[in-house]
Amino acid sequence: MITGKFPSLRLRRSRKNDWSRRLIEENNLTPNDFILPIFLIDGNNKKQPIKSMPDVYRYTLDNLSRVVDKAIRKGLPMVALFPYTERKKKNELGTEALNEDNLVCRAIQLIKKKYKNDIGIMCDVALDPYTTHGHDGLLKFNYVLNDETNKILINQSILQAQMGCDVLAPSDMMDGRIGEIRKSLDKNGYQMTQILSYAVKYASSFYGPFREAVGSKKLLQGDKKNYQMDYRNSDEAIREVALDIKEGADMVMVKPGLPYLDIIKQIKQNFKIPVMAYQVSGEYSMLTNSINKGLINKSVILESLISFKRAGANAIVSYYADKLDKIL
Ligand code: PBG
Repeated sequence: MITGKFPSLRLRRSRKNDWSRRLIEENNLTPNDFILPIFLIDGNNKKQPIKSMPDVYRYTLDNLSRVVDKAIRKGLPMVALFPYTERKKKNELGTEALNEDNLVCRAIQLIKKKYKNDIGIMCDVALDPYTTHGHDGLLKFNYVLNDETNKILINQSILQAQMGCDVLAPSDMMDGRIGEIRKSLDKNGYQMTQILSYAVKYASSFYGPFREAVGSKKLLQGDKKNYQMDYRNSDEAIREVALDIKEGADMVMVKPGLPYLDIIKQIKQNFKIPVMAYQVSGEYSMLTNSINKGLINKSVILESLISFKRAGANAIVSYYADKLDKIL
């Protein structure tokens, strides 16, 4: 492998000039590498700041077109929709998830009607925006029930597919849900609806700001460790992905992002499947706050985003996705 040695070999030769560094670059970013998360809220003419996420907002549906217009203009392939649900619409069972007039359903219809296939729509499949306890599934004696939750997730999936969602993204970490959702989609005529499985989702404290954004933070009872993965493990990540591929996932997600680059790499090396990385809310807020305080230069954003590509990610879910022209 090593073909020479100092002084005849000097690796700094190719680093000397910018043109040369550009010539030998192994990784780079384009708008195609990004998915933009959008937070939705009921009401009129609102662009509501989120306290823990600088420069990220919740939008009412009458403002949604402006956000999607911008995403398309910037060449982003997909947006991901997340609803903030009012307390009075939440209950123990998260039934608002199955309301065909809920915020996400109305948003999907609005985007599909106006933009057809100019941009993809991805939606979370999970109950946490809708439950009074803040968990992704049904809670019984502090345990999230698996098979009972799957039944609801299947219906949530069918509903979102029916509204026009292109990519269903189960983020709940229940066992067996990918296979069951795939089967039901096919049976109901949604053979072409894709599944992006949050196959590797760790029980992480980096999700804090997101939970504020969707209004589940103060409600969450306990933690999510009985269903989301233990961050001490990586073999388990391989098993999760292997299972989800067998069950019919089109793509898999690793989440959070930066602390889990080793996992992204292992999965890309083990399975030839599209891998998405989620640069989650806590990562976004940490970087942005430090930049805003002048502690670090904003080029850390590009450096972090490229690291996902270097590790093997095909694309990145990022709250920076609509701010790239300021970064790239
Ligand atoms: C909920 C969900 C979470 C995120 C995406 N979907 C939070 C959680 O599991 O508690 C986190 C995203 C982020 O932090 O940016 N199923």
